[in-house]
Amino acid sequence: MNTVLTGITTTGTPHLGNYVGAIKPAIKRSQDEAVNSYFFLADHHALIKCWEPERVAQSTKEIAATWLALGLDTDQTFFYRQSDIPEITELTWLLTCMTAKGLMNRSHAYKAQVAENTEKGEEDPDKGITMGLFSYPVLMAADILMFNATEVPVGKDQTQHLEMARDIGARFNHHFGEHFVMPKTVVDDNVAVLPGLDGRKMSKSYNNTIPLWLPEKQLRKHIMKIKTNSLEPGEPKDPHDSFVFDIYKAFASEQQVNEMKAEFANGIAWGAAKQVLFEMINTELQEAREKYQELINNPAIIEQELKKGAAKARAYATPFLVRLKEAVGIRPIK
Ligand code: TRP
Repeated sequence: MNTVLTGITTTGTPHLGNYVGAIKPAIKRSQDEAVNSYFFLADHHALIKCWEPERVAQSTKEIAATWLALGLDTDQTFFYRQSDIPEITELTWLLTCMTAKGLMNRSHAYKAQVAENTEKGEEDPDKGITMGLFSYPVLMAADILMFNATEVPVGKDQTQHLEMARDIGARFNHHFGEHFVMPKTVVDDNVAVLPGLDGRKMSKSYNNTIPLWLPEKQLRKHIMKIKTNSLEPGEPKDPHDSFVFDIYKAFASEQQVNEMKAEFANGIAWGAAKQVLFEMINTELQEAREKYQELINNPAIIEQELKKGAAKARAYATPFLVRLKEAVGIRPIK
């Protein structure tokens, strides 16, 4: 049995890029009976980069509602909020004591901040860097090792964190016995990386996203804003040089892709191509959008789902943590 686990940091509003690149493939994979899936809202990770309480709370609600609205089966999977599992936080400390400081010094996220400070001529290269940012990879290792995940699907930017998780887990195993499975990194190159409105990768840091749950009219407006070249209607267009086409491809069937290629060759107007794209995305999201709204209007349902997920996850985590503590010498007196 494969155990697939991934976390979503709760600092933003879900956008089309998250949907195509992560959420949709994850939910699909979770329907495979041979897969045990863990998906969680990484709200402790959120605190590392976001000190806006309303934003963290709102993002947690939106991301949870998104996964539920898109049909995640919470009976077949583990869907929980990181902060609801105190065992993860406790494990973080056990692992912190097994983590070489030098390993953390090499973390890309930390080094990027130091480099930025140095470039700016700051006297203190660690200016503005919290211990949260510095030891971020230890918390992430605890997320993963807590449930003995075998596969962790992540973006390319996270592969170093996975190496660190294995490193930390192996050191614990070496000192205290074989408790942890070494997780594999899964970076799926087949999954579409969606361009944003300006053509760069769709990402909230570029401010070029199309939010997933825009009302219909606004969704259309956003799609109409996707950058194109200035070819006129009637002039043939190159599908390999079009963000409209790139996004279309991520949603369309093979047949639809071929039809659109023909339309491009025939010189379809950009406005018309965008209209087709809008209709396709809108049709795909319509039903889920209603469910999403229903959940947002009934937050108690979301809370109840997360509480159920936490209870399921803790049924595994609580006895496992007792064994880990036992292994390091934290035991009942006897
Ligand atoms: N750090 C991940 C990100 O920013 C989110 C995350 C937290 C995560 N814990 C995890 C991903 C554990 C995979 C496994 O994308």
